[in-house]
Amino acid sequence: MGPAGAGMARRVISALLLGALLACNVAYAKFNRSSFPEGFVFGTGSASYQYEGAYKEGGKGPSIWDIFSHIPGKIKNNDTGDVADDMYHRYKEDVKLLKDMNMDAFRFSIAWTRILPTGSLSGGINKEGVAFYNNLINEVIANGLKPFVTIFHWDTPLALESQYKGFLSENIIKDYVDFAEVCFREFGDRVKFWTTFNEPWTYASMGYGTGTLAPGRCSPSISPSCTPGDSGREPYIVTHHILLAHAKAVRLYQSKYQPAQHGQIGLTAVSHWFVPNTDTAADRKAVQRSLDFMYGWFLDPLVHGEYPGTMRAYLGDRLPKFTAEEAKMVKGSYDFIGVNYYTSYFTSARPAPNGLLTSYDGDIRANTSGFRNGVAVGEPEFVPILFNSPRGLRELLLYTKRRYDDPVIYVTENGIAEENSARIPLGDALKDGHRIKFHSQHLQFVNHAIRDGVNVKGYFTWTFMDCFEWGDGYLDRFGLIFIDRLNGLKRYRKESSYWIEGFLKRDKTTHY
Ligand SMILES: *[C@@H]1O[C@H](CO)[C@@H](O)[C@H](O)[C@H]1NC(C)=O
Ligand SMILES: *[C@@H]1O[C@H](CO)[C@@H](O)[C@H](O)[C@H]1NC(C)=O
Ligand SMILES: *[C@@H]1O[C@H](CO)[C@@H](O)[C@H](O)[C@H]1NC(C)=O
Repeated sequence: MGPAGAGMARRVISALLLGALLACNVAYAKFNRSSFPEGFVFGTGSASYQYEGAYKEGGKGPSIWDIFSHIPGKIKNNDTGDVADDMYHRYKEDVKLLKDMNMDAFRFSIAWTRILPTGSLSGGINKEGVAFYNNLINEVIANGLKPFVTIFHWDTPLALESQYKGFLSENIIKDYVDFAEVCFREFGDRVKFWTTFNEPWTYASMGYGTGTLAPGRCSPSISPSCTPGDSGREPYIVTHHILLAHAKAVRLYQSKYQPAQHGQIGLTAVSHWFVPNTDTAADRKAVQRSLDFMYGWFLDPLVHGEYPGTMRAYLGDRLPKFTAEEAKMVKGSYDFIGVNYYTSYFTSARPAPNGLLTSYDGDIRANTSGFRNGVAVGEPEFVPILFNSPRGLRELLLYTKRRYDDPVIYVTENGIAEENSARIPLGDALKDGHRIKFHSQHLQFVNHAIRDGVNVKGYFTWTFMDCFEWGDGYLDRFGLIFIDRLNGLKRYRKESSYWIEGFLKRDKTTHY
């Protein structure tokens, strides 16, 4: 094809593209907020360590993440959350952006050591920290949004880690409940949605199984660079204490605060969706084990009062037991379940590893992969472990309804990232059509699940602004808002932020 022919082809292609875009816009216009039940909550999320920065300011005490991120080699590019998005100082500007996007809600977490710098009441309550969250909550409400508050998003007080090894000790239960109570007392007049823990699976399995996230413990056989731990026991102990702390905080809220404050409280679990690699009993069992070890580990105790049978049978004395009284306290300790979903995997049975070198990952006896015979389960994403598989979200929601007593569900996280690279010009970096496609497809599958009777009451994108993505540092941009890290953290709206603004726009004649 000569130059003229190429030009012609380009014009034809542009016309086709334009047509496709217009068709999409029509589809987008039909599918919008009004496709969801009245009162459905649309929001976006954040977390204290990933956003706030000001890590030594305002009387804040150190957390295990302040220490972990400063150990060279733990985080990509040795990035830290010292400054992060500086939301501690810029929250007013940021809440304005949330309002501009027509969001109903903002999900954020409270840094334990801003409230209790040493982690316990005995070290005193930090008034400046309480004031920061009061200001943030008031700003969110003044802009017409609901605060959805996570009490714990992985930033355990360093003092408690040093004193008694944090969540490895049952001492954490009392200190966590004390912290939660300060939050209920100080903020509960205005906060009506609480989650006790965000993704305890990630905290337990990566903090104590692989050692890739704080506090970075694992068996020496798994990695010599971990703080020596036991990948075959510690994740289970940590989760046990998390579940007891969760239940105790919920029971306290229900008896002492809920009658006057009228809020809702739950826990946010993360799960992948798992697809059997072959249609064999072995692979279907591997799928069930994968769901049980990732999701049922938390939801079976909350809903049914005990760990999944697959875990109890296989782990023996490595899995802690609930006393009858504890089981009673844990069972039913939620008003709603938060579900975080990112990806699906093909899953096949894998033999048990060498019995002497146990680990949480090996215990699952499942092999997961984004590919089967070279075909991906969903479009591969920039983050290599993630595959864009929106139908998996509907499957996970239907499974949750089926297995867990039809709970009220909020999808508390769902999102996609692109690369943070100085080579990409700003104009291009703001063009995130992949994110628009990602959210509109996932929202259609949420909508489908609702039509199938799943009680989903809200959907939160991960994440509001590009931020510190834990082990990946600032490499992944998951935000609706672009943060220019090379120029004073200036905020820019990506195309997806305008798309969601339109999606969430209210018709003047309709009342929601
Ligand atoms: C939302 O979609 C409905 C059709 O489902 C349409 O009537 C309405 O105008 C749309 N709203 C906006 C703000 O685009
Ligand atoms: C991280 O810091 C360590 C120690 O200073 C250094 O050896 C390493 O090259 C750094 N890594 C990166 C990606 O900058
Ligand atoms: C796990 O899955 C990958 C990708 O499908 C495959 O290459 C590998 O051989 C599998 N391993 C086992 C133990 O089944």
